[in-house]
Amino acid sequence: MSTRGSDAVARSAFERGSLRWVLQRATAVFLIGTLAFHFYLLHFVNHAADITLAGTTARMGELGYLLTMVAFLFAATVHGVNGVYNALVNAGLSGTRARVVKWGLIVASIALLVQGLRVAAAMSPLINL
Ligand code: HEM
Ligand code: HEM
Repeated sequence: MSTRGSDAVARSAFERGSLRWVLQRATAVFLIGTLAFHFYLLHFVNHAADITLAGTTARMGELGYLLTMVAFLFAATVHGVNGVYNALVNAGLSGTRARVVKWGLIVASIALLVQGLRVAAAMSPLINL
């Protein structure tokens, strides 16, 4: 059911007020900050040629930085996958095919998160598995 009201112009491709709509906006706001920080740090503070494994390990050894990267990983994954699913639904995907795609995307997200966490753990001297 659409809750867009009587506005002639749809302001969102998501169903307003739904959980997926809230998630897309909350992660978008978070990504504005984290993407800006990420590019600033890894392009301008440390120039591309100066990004080394030793530098990454040092950054990931700071708890606040590590937690920020993990939160960034979760936000980017949720935002990207939720956005792709929404675009497909808007393109007409429905019924069983939508359910198959949904679970395929959920499995892909879990794989991405698990691998991202493994990389974060491998890079951080704070985590010795
Ligand atoms: C040219 C652009 C980019 C460069 C050079 C870059 C570089 C890096 C580097 C070197 C790290 C390791 C952490 C560190 O050394 O501080 C990292 C981590 C990370 N980057 Fe980027 N990045 C770029 C773009 C992006 C974009 C566009 C996203 C998301 C949409 C992203 C998401 C992440 C995440 C989530 C991590 C943490 C990974 C983990 O926890 O396993 N990066 N990036
Ligand atoms: C500063 C960073 C970002 C902001 C502020 C942002 C903002 C948004 C917002 C507000 C929407 C919902 C639009 C609507 O209601 O119709 C959206 C949709 C979307 N976003 Fe982002 N986004 C950002 C980064 C990203 C990144 C890094 C990705 C990819 C990993 C991405 C992929 C998508 C996709 C696929 C959609 C769905 C588009 C559609 O429904 O056709 N976004 N974004």
